[in-house]
Formats: sequence, structure tokens, C-alpha cells
Amino acid sequence: MQQRKPKRDDRLEVEVERIDERGLGVGRAEHESGEYRVALRRALPGERVAAQVLRRRGNKIEGRLLEVLRASADRTSPPCRHYGSCGGCALQDMSYAAQLATKRENCERALAAALVKVDVEPVIGSAAALRYRNKMDFTFGTRRWVEPGEAEGVQRDFALGLHPREQFRKVLDVEACEIQPQPFDAILASARRIALEQGLRAWDLVKHEGLLRHVVLRRSVATGEILLQLTTSSEAPELVGPYVAALLAAHPEITTLVQAINSRGATVAMGERELVLHGSGSIRERLAGLWYRVSAASFFQTNTAQAEKLVEVTLEEARLSGSERVLDLYCGAGTLTLPLARHAAHVHGVELVEAAVADARRNAEENGIGNVTFSAGDVLAWFGSAGAIECDVAVVDPPRAGLHPKVVELLARIPARRMVYVSCHIGSAARDIAALAHAGWRATRARPVDLFPQTPHVECVLSLERAP
Ligand SMILES: C[S@@+](CC[C@H](N)C(=O)[O-])C[C@H]1O[C@@H](n2cnc3c(N)ncnc32)[C@H](O)[C@@H]1O
Repeated sequence: MQQRKPKRDDRLEVEVERIDERGLGVGRAEHESGEYRVALRRALPGERVAAQVLRRRGNKIEGRLLEVLRASADRTSPPCRHYGSCGGCALQDMSYAAQLATKRENCERALAAALVKVDVEPVIGSAAALRYRNKMDFTFGTRRWVEPGEAEGVQRDFALGLHPREQFRKVLDVEACEIQPQPFDAILASARRIALEQGLRAWDLVKHEGLLRHVVLRRSVATGEILLQLTTSSEAPELVGPYVAALLAAHPEITTLVQAINSRGATVAMGERELVLHGSGSIRERLAGLWYRVSAASFFQTNTAQAEKLVEVTLEEARLSGSERVLDLYCGAGTLTLPLARHAAHVHGVELVEAAVADARRNAEENGIGNVTFSAGDVLAWFGSAGAIECDVAVVDPPRAGLHPKVVELLARIPARRMVYVSCHIGSAARDIAALAHAGWRATRARPVDLFPQTPHVECVLSLERAP
């Protein structure tokens, strides 16, 4: 007779082996019908845990932690009151040293899976494992996440905060976030309170109605300036005006406030149009000895102190003598471009977002750096229009999806002798580097830098050279 396979709500005991790239503990469970791979939150390597089955596909199970039967020495108490429900952090149960070891192993595993042979150095850890972020992106929602045990009859149709894990239609009211700067807690509370007092409605993701969509907060470590970007579904000055006035009155520490208007279905904080309602529209940040103007739409590394380390490591790996022509693809507002330019003959940056390129140009000018040029547009399109490319060293820092396969092909053929791949998603980087290997590029070093404590994410600087 065939054995019954595990089904929803069954209890299994799991030997946890590792943390996967989503931050889930992954391990093995013995069952009368065979062995199963179980992935579950909040379970650490080396632990034996009891899990409730949530879903099963083949021999893969997603479970929920019921009980830790044998705890790891790396287990710690999560500092955040929302941890568990909030989708923002996944590793708060783990000591920071263990998080760093896990991130290194995950880099090694992803590279080995793509057959990229390179030693991964220990991860450069962040001095601050909490309160390290300089930017947070919060969402307004009409379906508030209700915690178990909350009183009956609580308001459920308005929330401002973060999405609970895997619940993209719901929003958890964040009262305090341990990885954001302290002043953001109070600003967020006011943004929620004033909206409710003024009877403003949150954007409904399903019905596509309502006004308030996102609040993005950015704070400069160097100057303390705070930028608030409010995304709304329409301009609605008669509603937005009093809302913004009340927010600014309650929080004079907000130095600039920008309204972004996004009437489309897609849930992005970036708008079709931007109006600067208060201040200059940007904040100034200091990084690696240079000043940067960061506007609402520009990409800027979210952990300023660790971004310094990332710049340092990238510079070390670029090994510039002063005579090189450098290509910096996916250059954002120039955080790598400008430091590279101080050690090179010339750097050309390419970046999709026009506002970031405008920031990059202004940043170069304000820092007195003249040996840089920029192109605004898609990297692939730029390759098509750039003609013969002259470059000794290439730096690429793509978004999480990595490089377009055609970009890999074009990049493989540039006349550079060295390439530095700065990756925020090691799986994508491993795939791209494996593809570059077909064209004679080989990885010589992998140096992870942790910009995202408490989460499974890690940056990794990979050096590539042309095989002789
Ligand atoms: C990980 S960020 C790196 C930014 C910059 N190197 C830094 O350290 O601040 C990736 C950048 O790539 C840009 N980007 C995304 N897709 C792009 C594309 N197809 N072509 C050019 N730039 C793109 C994004 O706007 C973003 O600024």
C-alpha cells in the first residue's frame, strides 16, 4: 500500500542545514513516505525544529515553525516588535556573526552552482547591524494586516507601513523599525495620523482608487537632512496641500518634500511627474570624501557607512594607476564613477534614470571632477549607439536581475583588460560571470560587503580578468 504523503497542517521534525537566499531555513524531514526538503522562516542551521506543513510540491515542503527542539548557539532575540509579521527582515533570530557566515556560504553556493571557480573572502560586516538604512519606502494600503490577538473592531481599511511577508495586498502598520534612522519612526506615525485626521484615503490596489500611495524617507548621515517623497494617485492640491502643511509643521526636521504623481496600476513609489513642495528637492550626503546630491528618484546605496567600504573595495579591485579609461555601467548618481575618476584618466558612466544622470553630472561638477562623462539611457541601447568602445577597465553594477544576455555578449567583447562586477544578487552575477567565462573572462576574486544586516541580501565585488 502506498504511504500517505505529508499534507497541510501535518507536523514534521526538520534538521535544518542552511539558510537560502530568501532567508528561509532549509533542511530535511523524515516521513513514513520518504524524505522531504522543508523550507521555513526563523529556523537556523544546526537546529532541529518542529514544523507545520503549509504547502507541498513533490518532495519540497514550505512549512511554519512551531517549536525549536534543539536551538543553535547562534540564536538570538529579535530586536524588532514587528519581526515575524513584517516582510522587511528575515534574519533577526541570528547573531550578526552567523548572518555574515551565512551570506558568505550563500555566495559560495551560488558561484559553485554556476560552475564559477573563485574563493569567496569573508564578508566585510557593518559596524551598525541596526539603524543603518538611510532610506525607507513605505506603502499606504486599504487592507491592514491584523496581528493575532488584536482587539475586535479595530480599523482595517487604512494602513501605512510595509508589506507582511508574501502578502503584497496587505500593509502592516509599522510603529517602529529597528533598521531605519530613529527620526523616521515619528514621521511615519504622523504621516498616518494626519492622513486619518484629514480623512484622506489610501490607494486601493484592486479597485485603483484612493489618493495616498507611498511615503519614501531619506536621511543624510553627513548633514541630517531629511527628504520625504509622497506618492499620490493625482495632484489633488486641495487635499495634498493641507496634508503636507500639517506634516511639515509637526516635523520641521523634514528639509525637503517632493510629491510624485503615479496614476497607474503599478505599485512603484516613482511617479510620472514630480513637484517639489518644500526645500530643494534633494539632500546632500558625503561618501568616500565626496559630496553627493541625492534626489527622490535617484538610486543611492541605502547604507552610507557600508557604501564607503563598497567604494573602497571596488577601487582596490579596479587597480587604477591614473592612466586608464574606465566604463561605469549602471552608474546611478555616480557613487562609484566619481571615486573611480580620481584615480583614472577618464570615466564614462551609463545610467537609465535621467534624474540620476542629472545628479551625477551635478555631483561631478560640485566636487570639481572634470574627467567624467555620462550617457542617460538603457545600457543595451547605449552599446548600440556608442560606436567603437575604448576602455581599459569596466565596472558594472546592475540591478538585482543582473545583465541582459545581449549586454553580456557585448561586454565580453569590449577591449578592457579588467572588469569589476558589483553585485547585489549573487545568483544573477554567478549566471552572468559563467556566461562571460565562455568569452575568456575568469573571476579572480569575490569580496562580499554587507550593506543589509538582518536580511539575507549581500553585495559582492567580483574581479574578472581576461584569461591569457
Ligand atoms: C545597483 S544600482 C547601482 C548604482 C550605482 N553604481 C551606485 O553604486 O550608486 C543599479 C542602477 O542601474 C540603473 N539601471 C537599471 N536598469 C538599467 C538599464 N537597463 N540601463 C542602464 N541603467 C539601468 C538603475 O537606475 C540604478 O541606478
